[in-house]
Amino acid sequence: MNRKDFPEDFLWGIATSAAQIEGAAFEDGKGLNIWDVFSRIPGKIGNNDTPDVACDYYRKYPEQLELMKSLGFNAHRFSFSWARILPDGFGRVNQAGLDFYRRVVDKMLELGITPNATLYHWDLPFELECRGGFLTRDIAGWFGDYAELIFRTFKDEIPLFATFNEPIATYVGYSLGAFAPGRKGEKCGRQANHNLLLAHGEAVRRFRDVCGPKKEFGLDHPNIGIVVDVWHHHPARKDDPGDIRIAELENEKTYRSYMSPIFKGFYREPLLRYMEETGSMPDIQPGDMESICESLDFFGLNCYNRVVDSSDPSAARDEIEHRGGNFMDNGQEYYPKAIYDALANVRSNFTGDLPIFITENGTFGLNERIETENGRPVIHDPTRVRYYKGFLEWLKKAVDEGADVRGYFAWTLLDNFEWTAGYGYRFGLMRKEGDGYIEKDSAAWFRDFLK
Ligand code: FCB
Repeated sequence: MNRKDFPEDFLWGIATSAAQIEGAAFEDGKGLNIWDVFSRIPGKIGNNDTPDVACDYYRKYPEQLELMKSLGFNAHRFSFSWARILPDGFGRVNQAGLDFYRRVVDKMLELGITPNATLYHWDLPFELECRGGFLTRDIAGWFGDYAELIFRTFKDEIPLFATFNEPIATYVGYSLGAFAPGRKGEKCGRQANHNLLLAHGEAVRRFRDVCGPKKEFGLDHPNIGIVVDVWHHHPARKDDPGDIRIAELENEKTYRSYMSPIFKGFYREPLLRYMEETGSMPDIQPGDMESICESLDFFGLNCYNRVVDSSDPSAARDEIEHRGGNFMDNGQEYYPKAIYDALANVRSNFTGDLPIFITENGTFGLNERIETENGRPVIHDPTRVRYYKGFLEWLKKAVDEGADVRGYFAWTLLDNFEWTAGYGYRFGLMRKEGDGYIEKDSAAWFRDFLK
């Protein structure tokens, strides 16, 4: 299998996000974001790592884009750092920030790399957090103004814009305290989610104002979408009512809590019941659901794995092993069919015929060592190679059977700042070491696949 088994105009890209790779956290007028601040609290991040330097993409973007190109990729999904552009989140524009992204986009175009931009990949300006962040409905206006500035500046160069990446991260940051900004409480998380959805709708309206009415999808003009991650929960014991209940509730609380309002205009009954019962119902005002459910041009699906749930933890392990001892060396289940299932799921339940991009897919290594072979440093990552191969085989099957998938983005080029996990969870096809880059087997695998 190689790229020729996929449609000719398929985009093959590398996905990244600003806070995870850019570094330059305090340079050229950038404002603080919630990860700059959260990572300062001792014990919040693995090894107390910070995003201060990361992969130094802020300076090294030309060579890192060239590396993508050298592997054969023709697209790049990146995110704008809101606080680099608007240091306070609103008002004053930092021209140096906009200029940086202008240079990055120009370099991509020069290399024949199609830009795919995300407006929000988890790095809220800290000043906005101080003013209530996602807990205030003001977020819709703040985000709308920021989005409008980006659309006006880049609408002629960037064909793919996503409002948000994985809204669930905001829930995790406002409800479980595990992500920035580190707030806790179910009601707090549900309110943050609802306000995020309002902000999404507002940005889509600004997009239509700036870029004109909805057209048929095409890369010759700007298109707007959103990226949601689907980790579908399966009951370990298919006829155990307890396991079924756990898995179903998790599916409602996670991806369906975004997909249903965005694509159908309502929160589903089981989620409403759950929020009622747990006292976590957000403030929903008349007209909110209509304003969230704006028509989109594409959907971005992030797919990493499935989840197996059980009231009895050993049953979950049994269900996985029953399918062939399918654990990877990072302890995760190897279940490449997850991508096929997720596509069928979103298409039949939410997105219908809307074009889809796989906006992230990848896996991490915990023990990848640099070895020396023939005087050269190498990193062997057979687990990652197997993972990509398996997922792409199942993606091909979905495409062959008619799923309208227009492209695929691997997460990611370089080992980087993996949020709360710090730098220890390595997702890269390569590793940056000093001023050089060490290629892993998976990078070579992609080069061969894309040739
Ligand atoms: C996704 C995130 C991305 C990265 C990968 C490993 O959930 O969108 O930023 O952390 O996981």
